[in-house]
Amino acid sequence: MPGVCGRCRSAAAEVELPYARLRLCPDCFSDFFVSRVRRTVEEFRMFREGDRVGVAISGGKDSGALLHALRSAFPGLDLVALHVNLGIPEYSAHCQSIAEGLAGELGVELLTFDLGRELGIGIGDFEGTAFKGKICSACGTIKRRLFEELAMRAGARVLATGHNLDDMVGIMLDNFLHGYWGQFVRLKPVLPPLAEGMAARVKPLIRSPEREDLLYCLYRGIRFKEIGCPFSKGAKVRRMAGLLEAASERNPQFRHQLLNRFLELMPLIEGIAPRPEFSKCRICGFPSQGDICAYCKRIALVKGDRGGVPSESG
Ligand code: AMP
Ligand code: FES
Ligand code: ZN
Repeated sequence: MPGVCGRCRSAAAEVELPYARLRLCPDCFSDFFVSRVRRTVEEFRMFREGDRVGVAISGGKDSGALLHALRSAFPGLDLVALHVNLGIPEYSAHCQSIAEGLAGELGVELLTFDLGRELGIGIGDFEGTAFKGKICSACGTIKRRLFEELAMRAGARVLATGHNLDDMVGIMLDNFLHGYWGQFVRLKPVLPPLAEGMAARVKPLIRSPEREDLLYCLYRGIRFKEIGCPFSKGAKVRRMAGLLEAASERNPQFRHQLLNRFLELMPLIEGIAPRPEFSKCRICGFPSQGDICAYCKRIALVKGDRGGVPSESG
């Protein structure tokens, strides 16, 4: 890409951002990326400087970029990294070693929940249950719950995940097309704690396109996993990726505009699908929409230890 950086006007431009009509050099791009994370945190009041913030890091590029950018944007922030080892042979050990390396380099404490060690199971065990063929769905429920568990162990008031602009718009569009209003509101940039003592969930990369998370990692020397999860082929988000890419080529602002319109619609959608009432799970005591929470149902399914748990897979 010919020409000089549109910000510093001295270094060569390497990154083109058509939606912002900008061409930037690596250093100015990294500053731009970090500033956008800072502005997003402030725009949605995700946390305050004195809060202890847990960051769920998977070993992937998005959450790696998130932890690094939060450290740069808020140098005094009390950060703790949280990682779930899902017990997937080869893949999970690789992810954990990347998470450990990144936390170590940034001097951030890391707390890990190891499914094998703490529960005696691995995500692959769902192959022998009604979740065969949709392991990602069971895995998502388990991960979300274990992020909460880790945030509590870490004493974090806020839990940040690396969901990026493409994830958000892809899932929003899918939920919109199918009328999954109840799931739609889970995509709010800030979700208040489900119960006292639990963490608020925030998404500081909501305005960062996936490609830019990758570029930020490359320019800042952040390592990320080199292998994909063996179970995640054809995940829901990917279905929309091609459509979004094609539309963004014709209209570079497409994803940003969709996100903004969805955020404007959120209060209306909350009116259609208000947050459900939560009681306490009979087994684990966490907030649950039924007698037994989705997490405990899934764990019981794998362990074959029903303990009065109904047999449905949902
Ligand atoms: P995914 O649902 O896999 O796209 O992940 C969304 C976000 O959840 C990531 O950006 C991370 O913040 C977090 N995450 C996913 N998997 C893990 C994991 N094994 N350990 C910690 N955080 C994770
Ligand atoms: Fe959960 Fe792959 S990471 S199924
Ligand atoms: Zn439970």
